[in-house]
Amino acid sequence: LSTEKTTPSQVTLSIDGFSIRVPAGTTILQAAERLGLRIPRLCACDRLEPYGSCRLCLVQIEGVRGTPASCTTPVAEGMRVQTQTETLARLRRGVMELYLSEHPLDCLTCSANGDCELQEMAALVGVREVRYARPEPGCASPMDTSNPYFRFDPDKCIVCARCVRACGEIQGTFALTLDGRGFATRVAAGQAEPFRDSECVSCGACVQACPTAALNETAVHEKGLPDRAIVTTCAYCGVGCSFKAE
Ligand code: FES
Repeated sequence: LSTEKTTPSQVTLSIDGFSIRVPAGTTILQAAERLGLRIPRLCACDRLEPYGSCRLCLVQIEGVRGTPASCTTPVAEGMRVQTQTETLARLRRGVMELYLSEHPLDCLTCSANGDCELQEMAALVGVREVRYARPEPGCASPMDTSNPYFRFDPDKCIVCARCVRACGEIQGTFALTLDGRGFATRVAAGQAEPFRDSECVSCGACVQACPTAALNETAVHEKGLPDRAIVTTCAYCGVGCSFKAE
């Protein structure tokens, strides 16, 4: 007989009083979303590996000290999780205030207005005002408009690293990195050079992953959001016929 412990393939836990059974290895955030529960998140993205940097998805777990990030914490048998307590609401509002204190408040004229995850999450966590001083306008690096298809505005970047991860995990190009430390950390292409001069192949994975207007299509920046979208399974054109090759 083998004495090795077998890991159960399914795990039962409760989230906000609702019981759910999910495959082992599922994160708390994923399990909550299967239940239809909405936990605020910014650095987590369905197409990317968990990262755990934004600290918005904090939860409380019975018998566990602190408030772990639900996007990086795997479920465990019998776990009892709370996602909506007054403590969590206060922590999330504080985190969001810090993000907004570094972000221009030009939502009404921003090209991403209405399609911005930061804006959406600020509303979700209930931030109405920011107590912290804002940096002087223009003290961030200038906008990088070197790429003909998209532009990078460091003022609007919240350094969630979704673009950096998309460039590596989705595209496999690894053209982007986080440069510097602490408050000075910023997204950089190659050796902090213009996008056009870096290894960037203009695939757009970074633009799609960006939760703000920091990485924005040039056409959207100049003309605003499109009034309709086409879903296509074919990479060769944008007609949207959903052609499937036999
Ligand atoms: Fe979990 Fe950002 S979504 S830490």
